[in-house]
Amino acid sequence: MTTHTVAIVVGSLRKDSLNRKLANALIKMAPPSLSMSIVEIADLPHFNQDWEENPPQNVLDFRQKIKAANAVLLLTPEYNRSVPGVLKNAVDVASRPYGQGAWIGKPGAVVSVSPGPLAGFGANHHLRQVMTAVGIKTMSQPEAYVGNAAAQFDADGTLIDASTIKFMDKFLNAFANWIERNKEA
Ligand code: FNR
Repeated sequence: MTTHTVAIVVGSLRKDSLNRKLANALIKMAPPSLSMSIVEIADLPHFNQDWEENPPQNVLDFRQKIKAANAVLLLTPEYNRSVPGVLKNAVDVASRPYGQGAWIGKPGAVVSVSPGPLAGFGANHHLRQVMTAVGIKTMSQPEAYVGNAAAQFDADGTLIDASTIKFMDKFLNAFANWIERNKEA
């Protein structure tokens, strides 16, 4: 069986981030065909187009980590009904140089996570638009919205909500199939 590497990008820098808790849960429950790990974005500078000639090393490293992965999974909080700036910045950083973006052709998926009942719908869909623009082959179904998320983890940050565990298992298996069908030649 082929194992696909998946770069997870978490759109929150917060220590107790619900998105990071879910990312850690997904890593643990991933099917054997997926090897998933978080690629950190906390130290990325704001994108500056003047870098084109000579980007900072952490920018080059981030681009390389995304390029090296077989697929990408983006977890997003919702800030003011959209994608947090740190996540949009990370997507932008790895989208250049023009025509050589690290995201191009990667199978990908998005999960939005919020303590609110609307589950980050606005951020989820804004991010889908951006993912399409940078060339990610984004899985359309199943969509993943995790609402009321604060109640779904125990004090250790373990995902304990049975229906979310069941749904995310289905989501990950669908994503594994999506990657297999859309992998780069
Ligand atoms: C939020 N939050 C929020 N939640 C939501 O469901 N819809 C929204 O539009 C917003 N807007 C928003 C703006 C800003 C500036 C902040 C700081 C927060 C609340 C947000 O969902 C909550 O802080 C989450 O816990 C953030 O995700 P992490 O950090 O837990 O992964």
